[in-house]
Amino acid sequence: MEDNGPLNEALAATSTAIERVLDPILVLNGGPEDRVVEAMRYSVFSGGKRLRPFLVLAGAELFGVDKPQALRVAAAIECVHCYSLIHDDLPAMDDDDLRRGKPTVHKQFDEATAILAGDALMSVAFEILSSEETHSDPYVRLELVKHLAHASGHRGMVGGQMIDLQAPDLDLDEMDVQRLQQMKTGALICFSAEAGAIMGHAGKQARASLHGYARDLGLAFQIADDLLDVEGTAEEVGKATGKDEDAGKATLVGLMGVDRARKQAQILADQAIEHLAQFDDKASLLRAAAHFVINRNV
Ligand code: IPE
Ligand code: IPE
Ligand code: MG
Ligand code: MG
Ligand code: MG
Repeated sequence: MEDNGPLNEALAATSTAIERVLDPILVLNGGPEDRVVEAMRYSVFSGGKRLRPFLVLAGAELFGVDKPQALRVAAAIECVHCYSLIHDDLPAMDDDDLRRGKPTVHKQFDEATAILAGDALMSVAFEILSSEETHSDPYVRLELVKHLAHASGHRGMVGGQMIDLQAPDLDLDEMDVQRLQQMKTGALICFSAEAGAIMGHAGKQARASLHGYARDLGLAFQIADDLLDVEGTAEEVGKATGKDEDAGKATLVGLMGVDRARKQAQILADQAIEHLAQFDDKASLLRAAAHFVINRNV
């Protein structure tokens, strides 16, 4: 069994560092609009594994990207992720009351505030990416904006969520479910792993390798999430479990059963690691992340 210490430390350090970036951005200014800022802060500062920001930082390190700049991109992707969680939990979607061990945003505040907090977290992410502080090269900033917009929109996360919601009425096979999961979860993970390559003007091959890594990682990650829904408890996982089957969600666990799905996640994690060969020891944390996503219990 490998030592997860360095990865755990990196995830914890990532969390502290992005919170430091976001704290002065999500400021309360004393007006009645502060309610939405409070909801944004409630979501963003409520823990979470910070896997996507970690991927940004680990990718950026491969290409010698300035750390404070990479941290801003890491913070931006976490804002989009938190927005996706807030909306995913709404009564109109998965209708969940618990997230990261705490009441969901619409429970803590109200539905309208949760919708607005999600909207504003998406906006602030693009505000961060387009700022000169994030990168001196306007072309790079535009690339980041373009790729995050694509990954989070109708051909990415939102599109995947749309399919996910219709799944009970669709007869999805394994390929369809893989496509759904690539969109709803994989796209943001791919953006995260590739952002450093964009910032560091990496060559095509290096970028393609990171994309291949993240594609497999993202799929493994969602299988693990679906396994936790079947096997985990709300106390451990910090969100309600045992819901996907009742809700008619299309998952590989549902189609393949627990054992085959776990094997598939392992194959994907191994494949993800194979994509990193060219980066040698520099990619050791990314390799550890591939083990982590399938072995996690939260
Ligand atoms: C949960 O994501 C939603 C999915 C895409 C499966 P995470 O498992 O990364 O959630 P946090 O950020 O750690 O809470
Ligand atoms: C959500 O997938 C993916 C998102 C885009 C937020 P799930 O609905 O399975 O995520 P959890 O289990 O609620 O975290
Ligand atoms: Mg969902
Ligand atoms: Mg959900
Ligand atoms: Mg889930």
